[in-house]
Amino acid sequence: MNTVAAARVQKLRNSELDLLMQKLHTHAGIRIDSTNSVIAGTVQNRMTLLGLHDVDEYLSLFDDSISARAEWLALIDLLTVKETRFFRQPDAYKCLAKYVDELLDTGPAPSELSFWSAGCSHGQELYSMAMVVESAVSRRKPWQQWHGIGTDISFNAVHQAQQARYPEEAMQFIPLEYRERFMRQEKDGTRVVADAISARTHFFHSNLLHVDSAPFADFSIIFCQNTLIYFERERQRWIIDQLVKRLRGGGLLILGAGEDVSWLGQNVCRLQWPGVCAYKKTGG
Ligand SMILES: C[S@@+](CC[C@H](N)C(=O)[O-])C[C@H]1O[C@@H](n2cnc3c(N)ncnc32)[C@H](O)[C@@H]1O
Repeated sequence: MNTVAAARVQKLRNSELDLLMQKLHTHAGIRIDSTNSVIAGTVQNRMTLLGLHDVDEYLSLFDDSISARAEWLALIDLLTVKETRFFRQPDAYKCLAKYVDELLDTGPAPSELSFWSAGCSHGQELYSMAMVVESAVSRRKPWQQWHGIGTDISFNAVHQAQQARYPEEAMQFIPLEYRERFMRQEKDGTRVVADAISARTHFFHSNLLHVDSAPFADFSIIFCQNTLIYFERERQRWIIDQLVKRLRGGGLLILGAGEDVSWLGQNVCRLQWPGVCAYKKTGG
């Protein structure tokens, strides 16, 4: 790495870094929890990639132009943690399976059962939800239509999710019956999500900060796990309220375990499911 750039990053750590993170907060509404050295290293790598050695030159990119917006997206992509896996919190999927069974059994089921993974990363969360839903639907009401959408602030994450292709190591987290049925083995050793799932799942770029203007509504189920951490407490509550607004009456909202934000909105009740932070919408 260029020593001139390294020296400039030292200066960035002390002063410009705060400014950059403040700007990021204003622009995208999120705060990055990584240590200063991790953030500085990320910015330095980005500068190296752009062939910039001067921090001021890099900071000057962030004006009101279109290319500034593109640079924000690139930086957010690098700074946000995309950690995820299939069936990441197994109890949440048991809760989901029971909910879907009840929904299909006690009807009237919605004309189309729709669900949303908000902060979907590379897609494993939405595909896990879809495997549970498709399995229940095919067993109980094969004529029931369903679709799932995943959204993320990261274009790269959305792009990878759309590919629906995962390494063999990722399969260890998928229950065997789902793995055999829904993950097709390719000649190159990777696994691809079966058409029965991928044809009904769609991914979009979207910032939860602007969830109030998102053209999505009428969901039976929303998962928003391990994504609220990017927002301050008040903003988290506002986002949860917005998510609840987008649920049907009786709809299910699942947050990450431990993401209970002591929030008690109207029209929702907390489900008693050990280890799962789940709410049901009671009103319409
Ligand atoms: C740790 S991952 C969680 C993925 C998945 N929900 C899970 O629990 O396995 C957090 C995801 O939230 C996304 N994210 C961060 N800020 C966001 C925002 N403002 N709007 C939408 N997605 C965001 C990140 O890009 C990342 O993919």
